[in-house]
Amino acid sequence: MISSFFIGVTIIWPAELSGRSEMICLCLKADASKSNGESDVAVYDSVNDAAELLPPSCGLDRPLPASACSIFLLFCSSFLGELIWIEMFLEVTLPSKSGRLTLVPPSEVDDVYVAALRCRPETRRYLRYLPEFFSVTDARDRRLSRELDSTLVDFHIHLPSTQADAPSSFIGTTGIFKIEEVNKSCEVGILISSDYFRGGFATEALHRVLLYVFEERNLHRAEFVTSADNLAMRGWLDKAGATLEGTKRGAWADPTTGGYDDACVYGILQEEWMASVKGRLEARINRTS
Ligand SMILES: CC(C)(COP(=O)(O)OP(=O)(O)OC[C@H]1O[C@@H](n2cnc3c(N)ncnc32)[C@H](O)[C@@H]1OP(=O)(O)O)[C@@H](O)C(=O)NCCC(=O)NCCS
Repeated sequence: MISSFFIGVTIIWPAELSGRSEMICLCLKADASKSNGESDVAVYDSVNDAAELLPPSCGLDRPLPASACSIFLLFCSSFLGELIWIEMFLEVTLPSKSGRLTLVPPSEVDDVYVAALRCRPETRRYLRYLPEFFSVTDARDRRLSRELDSTLVDFHIHLPSTQADAPSSFIGTTGIFKIEEVNKSCEVGILISSDYFRGGFATEALHRVLLYVFEERNLHRAEFVTSADNLAMRGWLDKAGATLEGTKRGAWADPTTGGYDDACVYGILQEEWMASVKGRLEARINRTS
C-alpha cells in the first residue's frame, strides 16, 4: 500500500556556510491521505542522519532515506555552483493479512538486528555462503547500497507492539530481487529469526510479499532458490504448492567443506498464485491467527 511519497532537494552545502553539516536535504512530503492537498516540509541532515520536521506534524518517524523504496529517481543539475539533487521516494509499508505482522522498509534502527540475524547459526545452516561475521556497519552498508537498486525491494518483518507507545519488533527480513521488467519475474527471499520458527510467520510474510508481486506489481513469475538440504524452506514451498523446477548442481559455495552445494529452484506463476497458492496460504493464516 503506497501511503505517501517524498520529493526532496539535496543541496551539497559547505559546512562553514550551513553550520550544520556538509550536506543538507530539504524534503517535501506530499501525503496522499491528505485531502486538502497540503504538503509538509522536513529538513533532512543526511550526514547526521536526522530529520527535522517543519511543522512537527509531518509524521515522519524514521530517517527519510530509509523510507526510500521501490522507486528512486535522481536528477542532477547545477545551481549557483551548488549541486542540486531531486529525489523521489515511495514509502511502502505492507500490513499482513491478519495484521499480526507488517512488512516495513529497511531502516537504520534495524541494522543491529539484521547484523545479528545474518550471523546466526540457524540462519547460516543452509545459507553457508553467508559470512560468519557481519557487523552493524556491514548491515548499514548493505542497506544503503540496496536502497539505490531498482531491481530489488527489501522489507523487514515487524511484529506490531501491543503497547501504544512501544516500537514494533524486528523478527526477520524478506523481499524480492533480480526483478526483470521484461520477463515480469523476480526471486523471493526470506530469513526468519529462529526464535520465531514454526509460528506461521514465514507464511504470513510471504503471503503478503506474493500478493505484492502478483497483484500489485503484476509480475508473472516468482522464483525461490534454496539449498537442496534446506528441509524447512523446501517443506514450506511444497506445502504452499510451489513447483520444483529443477536442481542447480554445485550452485552455492560451502566454505565449511570448500565444496559447492546443490540448490533447488521452485517457481510460482501468477495464474497458480490466483488458482491455488494464495488460497493455501490464506487457509494456513486463518488457522494460525
Ligand atoms: C524456512 C523458514 C523461512 C520457515 O519459516 P517459518 O516461519 O518457520 O515457517 P512457517 O511457520 O510459516 O511455516 C511452517 C511450515 O514450513 C515448513 N517447515 C518449517 N520448518 C520446517 C522444518 N524444520 N522441517 C520441515 N518443514 C518445515 C513446514 O511445511 C511447516 O508447516 P507445519 O508447521 O504445518 O509442518 C525459516 O525456517 C527460516 O528463516 N530459516 C532460516 C533461513 C532460511 O533458510 N531461509 C530460506 C532461504 S532460501
